[in-house]
Amino acid sequence: MLDEVIKIVENHHKWRRKECINLIASESVMSPLAEKLFVSDFEGRYNEHTSGNCHYKGTKHSYEIEDLCNNIFRKKFNTRFADTRPLSGGIANLTVYAAFTKPGDILVSPGIPNGAHISHTRWGLAGVRGLKNVDMFFDKEKMNIDVEKTIEIIKRVNPKIVMFGASMFLFPHPIREIRESIDENIKIIYDSAHVFGLVYNEKFQKPFKEGADIITSSTHKTFQGPQGGIVIGNNNLDEKDWEKIETALFPKVMSNTHIHRFPALSVTALEMNEFGEEYSKQVMRNAKALARALTDQGFEVLCPDLGFTESHQVIVNVKEFGGGKIVANTLENCNIICNKMALPTDSPHDALKNPSGIRLGVQEMTRFGMKENEMKLISSFFRDVLIDEKDVEKIKEEVTGLRKQFPQIKFCFKV
Ligand SMILES: Cc1ncc(COP(=O)(O)O)c(C=O)c1O
Repeated sequence: MLDEVIKIVENHHKWRRKECINLIASESVMSPLAEKLFVSDFEGRYNEHTSGNCHYKGTKHSYEIEDLCNNIFRKKFNTRFADTRPLSGGIANLTVYAAFTKPGDILVSPGIPNGAHISHTRWGLAGVRGLKNVDMFFDKEKMNIDVEKTIEIIKRVNPKIVMFGASMFLFPHPIREIRESIDENIKIIYDSAHVFGLVYNEKFQKPFKEGADIITSSTHKTFQGPQGGIVIGNNNLDEKDWEKIETALFPKVMSNTHIHRFPALSVTALEMNEFGEEYSKQVMRNAKALARALTDQGFEVLCPDLGFTESHQVIVNVKEFGGGKIVANTLENCNIICNKMALPTDSPHDALKNPSGIRLGVQEMTRFGMKENEMKLISSFFRDVLIDEKDVEKIKEEVTGLRKQFPQIKFCFKV
């Protein structure tokens, strides 16, 4: 049994870390230094606290590292308010719901068919809080929120929260235009889980400057830290509102925090301060390059007239190849890993059973040093397997061969 445990870990690590081209848009890998600091005695300790008033003993270094970590984000976002305790992006959202809403309140978000995360809906954590979600009006051609019609919806349903950000997220959301036209008491939350690595580097969009009250996020997608979450408040947020978030975090939503995340998260943020400009630019270049190359190979990539994407994501309609579920399976057989994705044009049945799209993210392969040329090679694998139906085993060998040329994690400090 023990051998089996070790073998499973080794098999997974070898396959996903060394042989696969990972295009899952919500994943990444930590830097060697962050990974090294992830395992320490902090793992297994407790540090529940209320504004630094620690309820356990033995926590002087635990609080020190948590405060240091929060301060890096406070400085970067030019704000007094940042808390890295949430265990995930979903928990960061739940914290905000617990702070600003009561059961029965309404939340307006982009909506599941348009790429919203399940935690923005009654079927996920918004539902755990007893919230009702109402969808924004979505322009399927532009793959973005229709400003005027969404303002009408917000005025009609009078929500407590308007949630921007999504899991399928190609273009910046119109925060400013909507903020200017709605009741100032409505809290604007920007869920930057997917694009946090870009937003941290002032790319894609600047949620606070555009009018968001709060940013929630995961810390492990385009921001390539340990799996976890964060809540950041706009510096102009009322102190009392921030207190509501702090008490929502502890004791309501969480008790212990996973302290061992903080050193790794701090290192990742410091690496982003050092290398993030170059990294985020390359991510955005690679996404556009992959979209262009896939189009040239004959695939239907969404939004060609809008330059395909401004984020790390590329969305491809693969209905003619059997749909996203089948295509993602076929690609996995060749060591290319990606997700199926429902498109706004899918019927509810197709969206659930076999959506038309796949969602590709270039952040992890960018992390390993791949550039525009490699994006072209990846697009040729897609053609080989899906259009030309060449031998899967042979393509898999070529994919693994390309992957092995990029063993080193870039944009990070040397260990
Ligand atoms: C937009 C969005 N918000 C929240 C989450 C949840 O993040 P986590 O998996 O860290 O809980 C996700 C997950 O992919 C997401 O896409």
